[in-house]
Amino acid sequence: MKVVPKSPARRPNPAKLVLPGALGELKKPVTRTWISDLAACSEGLMDKFVIRGGNRLVGSIRISGSKNAALPAMAAAILTDEPVVLENIPDVRDIQTERNLLVSMGAEVELGYGRASHRTTISCRDLVNPEAAYEVVKTMRASTLVLGPLVARMGRARVSQPGGCAIGARPIDLHIKGLERLGATIKQEHGYIEASADRLRGGHIIFDKITVTGTEDLMMAASLAEGETVMENCAREPEVVDLAALLIKMGANIEGAGTSTMRIQGVEELHGARHRIIPDRIETGTFVIAAVLTGGDLTLTNCDPNHLGALIQKLEECGVSITASADSMRITNGHQLTAADVDTEEFPGFPTDMQAQYMTLATQAQGTSIITENIFENRFMHAQELARMGANIKVEGRRAVVRGKTSLSSAAVQCSDLRASASLVLAALVADGETIIDRVYHIDRGYERIEEKLKSVGAQIRRIGEFLPRRAAVPSVVA
Ligand code: UD1
Repeated sequence: MKVVPKSPARRPNPAKLVLPGALGELKKPVTRTWISDLAACSEGLMDKFVIRGGNRLVGSIRISGSKNAALPAMAAAILTDEPVVLENIPDVRDIQTERNLLVSMGAEVELGYGRASHRTTISCRDLVNPEAAYEVVKTMRASTLVLGPLVARMGRARVSQPGGCAIGARPIDLHIKGLERLGATIKQEHGYIEASADRLRGGHIIFDKITVTGTEDLMMAASLAEGETVMENCAREPEVVDLAALLIKMGANIEGAGTSTMRIQGVEELHGARHRIIPDRIETGTFVIAAVLTGGDLTLTNCDPNHLGALIQKLEECGVSITASADSMRITNGHQLTAADVDTEEFPGFPTDMQAQYMTLATQAQGTSIITENIFENRFMHAQELARMGANIKVEGRRAVVRGKTSLSSAAVQCSDLRASASLVLAALVADGETIIDRVYHIDRGYERIEEKLKSVGAQIRRIGEFLPRRAAVPSVVA
């Protein structure tokens, strides 16, 4: 059975469309080497970091583009048959995963690393396979961002249910409810969500809970829906605003991005555009804390301090001095830090993605810091590893009580998720002796060459690779 698009002008040529899963009918061979790449990541090359603590970090670091803004921007390319050019794309594993996902659907994705702008050109003219398979979604939950764009452009999507992950249950029920409000029919079976619609129509969506990728997914879907969509209780994160800016360049009609109510007038079709991704606020925040912890003097360039208001305010409460300009920040710290409590919240509150790094800082502050995690139910896995390095941390449900200041000593520790890994790198920078951090593939998902950046400002850090036998069974190419 073929999927018949309603508007041939807007949707890919029906002759090239196949039912999800029918890999044998694809127009051109789609390599499955990325699946073996993923296998290599989990079973082959298991890099570690070896960090000798104690050095002050002094100098300048250029901040990369935001991973969390780049991922939805790449998914937005699905909405048009013209090329979308994205600049300032970070060179991190999640971007490779998304590239592979888009390629598996029939997109052409050229990643231009090495050139000044980290430019990516994506052409989704010949999409053939509207599916995000379990193998991809389980390694990167943000793959579910293709759901809305696929239904809007192709009339059909098949996306694996993400299931649980290290930091909590993280369902995508709000994406699904929202798509239903826009007229999509949703079936859930065999672990997959199958969504279809002749053409989405505008609707009124009130999010039960603020969701970042949910807001982005539905904003993309509504851009090609018929009529007006009003979304309330939207996420206000800078990444949502950046996606809206790209969609507007592509011809979308969106008002209110960055506020809790957005109005989207759907259009018949979107066109290609060129867009520069915003700087990564979480990478910036991580280096800010690195400077603070090591009593260093760091200048961060190509960043946006306006996106870090809550963190800057909290660090000032701890006694840190920060000088910010429009696109750079200088952090100097030679004083004893004072403890301060933190509650994670949606933007503009204190970001959950900075909670782990802040916990490392709290171990070095004088007094008791209470850290309350309000966004994810299980995001304290780093606490145990920090405790193994000598931190005094007691976790009680969603609260962690950190008593400082404690000296940290080197140990062999293990990364459990992306931001937890960053907290361990930070702890190692101030620990006594040589810390070995295992499973750094977590950090490679979201930090561009963190070890090179840290080394360039005086850290003693090196990456070591350990080769383990590979499983032979993974096919390298499936036509
Ligand atoms: C995004 C970010 C992630 C960040 C998080 C919170 C990306 C690619 N990832 O993740 O780095 O930590 O925002 O700032 O941008 N929820 C539901 N149902 C849903 C969707 C979410 O219950 O359908 C819940 C989640 O389980 C969580 C909360 O809502 O408790 C917020 O999650 P959400 O904002 O959706 O996080 P992500 O968009 O996945």
